[in-house]
Amino acid sequence: MWCVVVVCVALAAAASSVTAEAGPQVWRVEAPGHHIVLRSLENEGLVDVLGSVTSHSKVLVERSAKERVSRALSEAQVEHKVEVEDVLPLIEQERQHIRHKRSTRFTQNVAQPMDWTSFHDLDDIEGFIGWLNATGGPFVQVANAATTQEGHKVLVVRITDPNSPGPKKKVWIEGGIHAREWISPAVTSYIMYQLVTNPAWQELLQVADWYMVPVANPDGYEFSFSSPRARMWRKNRRNNGNSGQCRGVDLNRNWDFKWGVGASNNPCSETYMGPLAFSEPETRGLQFLMSSVRDIDLFITFHSFGQTILYPWGWTRTAPANSRQLKRLAKKFADTVREVSGGSTDYEIGGSGPLYGLASGATDDWTYGVLGVPYSYTIELPDQGTYGFLLPENRVSSTVMETAAGVHCMVGFLANAGQCARRRARNPHNRIFG
Ligand SMILES: *[C@@H]1O[C@H](CO)[C@@H](O)[C@H](O)[C@H]1NC(C)=O
Repeated sequence: MWCVVVVCVALAAAASSVTAEAGPQVWRVEAPGHHIVLRSLENEGLVDVLGSVTSHSKVLVERSAKERVSRALSEAQVEHKVEVEDVLPLIEQERQHIRHKRSTRFTQNVAQPMDWTSFHDLDDIEGFIGWLNATGGPFVQVANAATTQEGHKVLVVRITDPNSPGPKKKVWIEGGIHAREWISPAVTSYIMYQLVTNPAWQELLQVADWYMVPVANPDGYEFSFSSPRARMWRKNRRNNGNSGQCRGVDLNRNWDFKWGVGASNNPCSETYMGPLAFSEPETRGLQFLMSSVRDIDLFITFHSFGQTILYPWGWTRTAPANSRQLKRLAKKFADTVREVSGGSTDYEIGGSGPLYGLASGATDDWTYGVLGVPYSYTIELPDQGTYGFLLPENRVSSTVMETAAGVHCMVGFLANAGQCARRRARNPHNRIFG
C-alpha cells in the first residue's frame, strides 16, 4: 500500500516539475461563519472559492497567499485543512487525456458532430454548432450576441419547429459563463443535440422555442484550455489596465440588477464585478438579445459544482413571490435526475441567497427581477466537491444525460407535454402563471 502511495507521489512530483513551480492548493474550510471570512478574503483576491455548501467550502489558495489566508482564518477561528497539496498534477492528468482524444478524433474548425464522453474546447463546440446549423435546416438558427475582446463570438442557437403554430413557451439556457465549469457547455450542447436529433424531444420542440447559449464566456473558456495554470480560470479576459496583472470580469457579477451585492470591486478577485454594470460585451449582448426575445418563460444557467438547483434571489434572503411554484418546478428536475441516475445524483433545492450567501449581478436575478422571467434557475451541476471542476471525463456522459432528462421534465411540465405533462382532463385550466 505504501508503495502505491509513494509511486503516486513520485508521479505527481514529476508532473509538477514539468510546470516548473508548485501550483495552488485546495483547502477545505469549515466552521459556522466561514462564508463571511471567505467572502472578504475572496474580495481581496487572496482566495478563490471553488464551491460551498452550508457546512464547508473548498477554496483555491495560491502559494504566495498561504500565510496570509492561514492567519486570517485562525484569527476568525475558522478551521481549515489542506485537501490537495498541489492541483497542477491533477490538471496535467486531465490535459494529457484531452490532448490524446483531440489528436485522434477531432480536427479543428470543421462542422462536425461531437461526443459527450470527454470535454471539448471552443473549436470543437463551434464546429458542433456549425454541424447543428447545417443538419437542422429550418429548425436551427444561429445568432451572434456579441463579439468579445479577443474576437470570439457569443453564439446563441435558436432551435424551433417552424411547422408548429404554437403558442409556445420560450426557454433560454445559458452555459459556460464561468470558464472553468467545463461540464456546463457539455450539458448545454448535449441538450441542443437532443432537440435536433432525438425523437423523444420532438414534442417539446412543438410546444417550446429554445434559445441556447453553449459558451457565454468564450474568451475565458478558451483560456482555461490553454495551460494547466489557466485551468481554474473563471472570469472573461478583460484587460483591467493594471499592467495586465489581474485580468477579467466575473460575468456572473456584471448584470445590471443589484450590481455590486456580494461582488468584489478588486480586479484581482475572482468575483470582480467590473467597472460598471454591463461593462462587458458578453453580458451586454446577451441581455440585449434576451430583452428582444421577450416573455421568456424559463431561464436556466448551468454552473458547477455543488448539485443544487437554485432560484432567486441571490441578493437577499427574502423568498421571491412565486417561490412555491419555483420549488415545485425545481423538484421536477431533482426527482427526474434522481430517478434517471438510479438514485446516485441528489440535488438540493433552495434560494441562492439563503444557500450560498448573498451575491448578485448574476444572470438569474436579472432575468427574474428585470425581465420578469417567472422561472429562473441556476443549476450547479455535479459533483459535490470530490472532484469539483475536475470532474472526471467518465462522468461526462452520465451527467449530461441525467441533466437533460431533468430539463425535459421541467419544460414538459411547464408546457404540458411529454412525460411530465400535467393531466389535462382533470385540470384543464391549471396554468402555472398568467
Ligand atoms: C447556418 O446555415 C445558414 C444556411 O445554411 C448559413 O447561411 C449560415 O452561415 C450558417 N451559420 C453558421 C453560424 O454556421
